[in-house]
Amino acid sequence: MMNQSHWENVYQNKPVNQVSWFQQNPKVSLELIEHARLPKEANIIDVGSGATRLISELVALGFYNVTVLDISRAALAKAKAQLKSLHRDVNTFEWLVGDITQIDLDIEKYALWHDRAVFHFLTEREQRQAYIRNLHSSLKKNGEFIVATFSLDGPEKCSGLPVVRYDVEGLVKTFGPSFELLETKTESHQTPFDTEQAFVYCRFKKIRS
Ligand SMILES: C[S@@+](CC[C@H](N)C(=O)[O-])C[C@H]1O[C@@H](n2cnc3c(N)ncnc32)[C@H](O)[C@@H]1O
Repeated sequence: MMNQSHWENVYQNKPVNQVSWFQQNPKVSLELIEHARLPKEANIIDVGSGATRLISELVALGFYNVTVLDISRAALAKAKAQLKSLHRDVNTFEWLVGDITQIDLDIEKYALWHDRAVFHFLTEREQRQAYIRNLHSSLKKNGEFIVATFSLDGPEKCSGLPVVRYDVEGLVKTFGPSFELLETKTESHQTPFDTEQAFVYCRFKKIRS
């Protein structure tokens, strides 16, 4: 509950382009998604989506089975408002308010799971295990999974909360042998406050049921 009220407070009080993780153009995510070569009808979930521009970019690319999940209701309200301003029909998407370590997701539904800057908030082993259980059960066989976290030279906190930083090896070890590493990228994210944050991205494939 504390976690949820933290995020509600952020999205109720800050403009979407005044949070450190704001990106005008989520280009690394889009590049990795393109490499997954998904059909347009693919089920995609963006976990801890916030008010990211990624959703409208996915729509512009022709994807329509998109699930937008966040612990904050206010975040999703802002994401919907953004899409409405682009004259998109928000009812074609699935909107889920919930904690990714607790929510029940449909089994083997998704061809792609995307997470930028959410997994790194899971500082407890049990939280990470719950996340990975959800990831594993809701991804289709051969489904892909893109995760972006602060890298080892990134900040120790995000939104005032402690994070776990990773390198590629750490992510591979954390997600375990059910996931095969396909590709990695790094990014120096320029925040709206003219500071930089080092990110590592990995694209994985689920290889074991
Ligand atoms: C740093 S922001 C990143 C937002 C978005 N992914 C982006 O790249 O712009 C982290 C997001 O994760 C959400 N979040 C944090 N903990 C979560 C959890 N346990 N389950 C679901 N969402 C969570 C927050 O509300 C917030 O929108």
